[in-house]
Amino acid sequence: MDFLDVLSTRESIRSYDPMQTVAKDILIKILDAGRLAPSAANKQPWRFVLASSEEKLVKVKACYDKPWFHDAPHILIVVGNKQQSWIRRYDNRNFIETDLAIALDHMILTATNEGIGTCWISNFQQDVLYAALDLKENECVYGLTPLGYPKSDNSKKGYKERKSFDDVVDWM
Ligand SMILES: Cc1cc2nc3c(=O)[nH]c(=O)nc-3n(C[C@H](O)[C@H](O)[C@H](O)COP(=O)(O)O)c2cc1C
Repeated sequence: MDFLDVLSTRESIRSYDPMQTVAKDILIKILDAGRLAPSAANKQPWRFVLASSEEKLVKVKACYDKPWFHDAPHILIVVGNKQQSWIRRYDNRNFIETDLAIALDHMILTATNEGIGTCWISNFQQDVLYAALDLKENECVYGLTPLGYPKSDNSKKGYKERKSFDDVVDWM
């Protein structure tokens, strides 16, 4: 797909066909897009966890209670380690969230390019994921997304609700 078409056609998908799993070569492309993402000082303070087995999916899906989320055949979780990320010295700011957001966005856009539905999820219960993924002390989940095929062609709105170009752009 043309890059700008990927940007304009990506939508949060909240309807997944539980019977249609994603082929391994496509999953690898998506995960590798995260690996290729830039990060502050190139620290790459991340792990990308893909839950696909029935056993793991049950535990992971308990972190978010929307029914459509429970239909997804795969859940991709971005785990970060705050002790590995870059800290700006003059104000002690840790850039972990920025790094992890870029990695997840790379993977979401790559999934879109492959016709795979995604929905960025932040409203999950962190403690459920700690137990489900056996996270280490300094690890934290910064975002996750279902991966799967939309249930029907109607799963997309087909338009973007956004502020206008002039509202958000300042030419100086
Ligand atoms: C950081 C972030 C967190 C989000 N968390 C959730 C969430 O917990 N649940 C959900 O259904 N959508 C979530 N979304 C999806 C947004 O609601 C969605 O991106 C926005 O409404 C624009 O719609 P679009 O993605 O279809 O263009 C999140 C998106 C972002 C970027």
